[in-house]
Amino acid sequence: MAKVDMSVNIAGVTLRNPVVTVSGACGFGEEYKPFYTTADIGAIAVKGTTLLPRLGNAVPRIAETPAGILNSIGLQNPGVDVFVTRELPRLREEGACVIANIAGSTLEDYQAVAERVADAGVDLIEMNISCPNVKEGGVAFGVIPAMVEKITAAVKEKCGKVPLIVKLSPNVADIAENARAAQAGGADALSLINTLIGMRIDIKSRKPILANKIGGLSGPAVFPVAVRMVWQAKKATGLPIIGMGGVATAEDAIEIMMAGADAVGVGTAMFKNPMAPIEIRDGIERWCEEHGIADVKEITGSVID
Ligand SMILES: Cc1cc2nc3c(=O)[nH]c(=O)nc-3n(C[C@H](O)[C@H](O)[C@H](O)COP(=O)(O)O)c2cc1C
Repeated sequence: MAKVDMSVNIAGVTLRNPVVTVSGACGFGEEYKPFYTTADIGAIAVKGTTLLPRLGNAVPRIAETPAGILNSIGLQNPGVDVFVTRELPRLREEGACVIANIAGSTLEDYQAVAERVADAGVDLIEMNISCPNVKEGGVAFGVIPAMVEKITAAVKEKCGKVPLIVKLSPNVADIAENARAAQAGGADALSLINTLIGMRIDIKSRKPILANKIGGLSGPAVFPVAVRMVWQAKKATGLPIIGMGGVATAEDAIEIMMAGADAVGVGTAMFKNPMAPIEIRDGIERWCEEHGIADVKEITGSVID
């Protein structure tokens, strides 16, 4: 059989394969250099970037769970200037497809960061309105549909020709409604899911394990929630989707694509196995070959429901 076409398309941007490393799991791509480069994967979604540098929350900010991790990093990042002047040129040189993940405390913050990264020439902008770990902004913009539409429209104005991905929160009553609100605001694509809000307590000290008390759950525990929400968001909007949340194997990736994802995000799995994105990429290709699928895009939305 001829080689499988592994390329996918997100809002007019071609990714060489469907595997995206998710925001927050690999910084700006340097940590994984010993294993592979960002040119080996479909795209890198960089660490959530804000207008000014942020130190993040107090430690401890990671707690283990039986099937994933709870984090409360609090958007630690060097700020948009460092991203644009130091990280982006290096990623460009490497041949990466770059998704700038942006965050802020106010609508104006989001607009300013979007404008900077769009002018700097990133491939896609991913607006994180679903971070559970910052006190202001973040998730507040992501839960009320009217707010989702409002901030999407305001940020879209500043993106120029760069497509806007809206990263949805799973901590909502009806994901379809929020997905439709993002679409109404002008989103070109969606990504989901961000982390589910959780908490752990040390029973010896009776204190919360995380300094922030609560954090976001990711990893295998959230995978079925992610599959369900991707399926609902795709049905509600038909928009291109980067599906993420607990994807750890090629089979997981194929499953979330069948639910409606055009590309697949890999995050927490990398903390256990740094090679996960590459193994998932190669596993998807092998599965296509074994099943006579010439184009990986055929998997998207192919669930028989
Ligand atoms: C340590 C850590 C940091 C994260 N930081 C961000 C972030 O800065 N921006 C963002 O949109 N999502 C962030 N996320 C959420 C992930 O991008 C992803 O949506 C979530 O972890 C589900 O995927 P996974 O189970 O494969 O990790 C972070 C997740 C983790 C575990």
